[in-house]
Amino acid sequence: MEIVVAGTGYVGLVTGACLAEVGHKVTCVDIDEKKIEIMKKGISPIYEPGLDEILDKNYKKGKLDFTTDYKEAYRKADVVFIGVGTPERVDGSANLDYVFSVCRQIAKNVTKDCLVVVKSTVPIGTNDKVEEFLRENVENNIHIEVASNPEFLAQGTAVRDTLFASRIVIGVESEKARDILMNIYERFNQPIVVTNRRSAEMIKYASNDFLALKISFINEMANVCEIVGADIEDVAKGMSYDSRIGNKFLSAGIGYGGSCFPKDTKALHWLANDHGYEVKTIKATIEVNENQKYKLFRKAKEVFGSLKNKRVAILGLTFKPGTDDLREAPSIENVRRLLDEGAKVIAYDPVGENNFKKIYPTEIIYAESMEEAINDSDMAFIFTEWDEIKSIGIDVFIEKMKTPIIFDGRNCFNLDNIYEKEVYYYSIGRKTIKNFSKKKLNEKIFLK
Ligand code: UGA
Repeated sequence: MEIVVAGTGYVGLVTGACLAEVGHKVTCVDIDEKKIEIMKKGISPIYEPGLDEILDKNYKKGKLDFTTDYKEAYRKADVVFIGVGTPERVDGSANLDYVFSVCRQIAKNVTKDCLVVVKSTVPIGTNDKVEEFLRENVENNIHIEVASNPEFLAQGTAVRDTLFASRIVIGVESEKARDILMNIYERFNQPIVVTNRRSAEMIKYASNDFLALKISFINEMANVCEIVGADIEDVAKGMSYDSRIGNKFLSAGIGYGGSCFPKDTKALHWLANDHGYEVKTIKATIEVNENQKYKLFRKAKEVFGSLKNKRVAILGLTFKPGTDDLREAPSIENVRRLLDEGAKVIAYDPVGENNFKKIYPTEIIYAESMEEAINDSDMAFIFTEWDEIKSIGIDVFIEKMKTPIIFDGRNCFNLDNIYEKEVYYYSIGRKTIKNFSKKKLNEKIFLK
C-alpha cells in the first residue's frame, strides 16, 4: 500500500515517521524544498525528542521518503493522510485553506481509488465538505473517499504518543474505509474507536477542550487558594487520588499555550456560536486562561510599583518544556508588556531562543545560561518549567540576583526548601515567601 502524508509539521511528520516505523511505506510531501533536503539527511526540521532517529532509520531502510513532487506522490497513492495546519482566523474560526489546497492537488493527480484521511484538527462537518470537494474536482475516473483520523500527540512526546497512543480514533462512512484504516493501524496494537466522521471530529475538539477546561479549572482553584491560604499542590494531590478526577493536567500555572488548546477552544466556541449555541464552559475556559497569562506581570507591578529600568530575567520562553515552539506562549505577550513598561529584559531558554529572536530580534538581551540571565537582575520571571530551571536551586538566585525576587509561573520549587531563605518568592496558588529584607534595598519596594 502506498501511503502519502501531506504536510511535514508536527502532525504530518510524526505520523509519517511512525507509520514507517511500524513497517508501512510512506512518502511525506511538503512544498518547502529546504525542509525536504534537511529531512533527507535524517534531521527533523522541528525539535521533537526521538524523531531524528526514526526519520534517519526509516529513510535509510527505504520505508520513508520525502519529496516536493506532489504530483508523482499522489499519482501512486492508495491512501493520503492530510496533516497540514488549520490556524486560527481573527474571529476564532479555523482556517482550512491549507487543507483545501492539498485537496485540490490530490484531486488533480490521484490515478487510483484513494482514501483521503484527515488528521488535521478540523471543525465538525469538514470531512463531509472535503469529500464533496474531492469528488467534484477529481480528474480521473476513480473512487475517492474521506475518513477522519484525529491525532492526540502532544509536542515533546509526539513520537511516544503516536507509537503508544492512548487510543486511535477512526471516523468512517463505509466498510471499505474502515477496513483500510484498521489494516494500517492494527500494527500499533492500541485501542481503536471506530465511529462516524462527525463524531471523530468532535472527539478531537471535546478532548482538547476538556483538557483546557481542566487547566483553567485548576488555575481558578489556585487563585482561590491564594485568597484563602490553601496550597494548590496539596489540593491537586488530594483530588488526584479519586480515579474519576485523575492525576493529570492538574498543574496550576500561568495558563495553557501552544498550537492546540488556544486554537481549539476558540474554534469550538466559534462553531457552536455560529449555530446559535454558547458553550459556557469553553467561554469561561478561554477567559480564565487569558487572565491567568498576566498573573506574574500584575504581581510584579504590585510589588515594584514601576518596572521602569528594572532588569527582568525571563527563564523559559516556550509554551511548555520539551519543545522549541512559541505559539501562544505566555512569554511573548508578557515580554511586550514589560518592554512597554520600560523594563530591561534578559531572557534564557534552553532551546527556544532562536525562535524568540524572530519576534524580538533586538529589543531584549539573550543570555547563554540561566546564571547569566539572573545575574544582577531586579526580578526573575519563570514561564517554562524546564528541568534545567527546576534544578538550579534557590541559592543561585540569592547569590546572583541584585534583589532575589522571583515570580514563578510554573511552581518549579518546593516551598519546603525556600521557607528559611532570604528571598521573595511568589508562585501560583501557594503561600508567598517574603523573607527578603527591605533594608537590603536602596529603593522602595512594596513587598506585600
Ligand atoms: C495538546 C494535547 O495534550 C494533545 O493531546 C493534542 O493532541 C494536542 O494538543 C493537539 O491537539 O495537537 P500540546 O499542545 O502539545 O498537546 O501540549 P500539552 O502538553 O497538552 O500542553 C498544553 C499547554 O497546557 C501547555 O502550555 C502546558 O504548560 C499547559 N498545561 C498542561 C498546564 O498549564 N497545566 C497542566 O497540568 C498541563
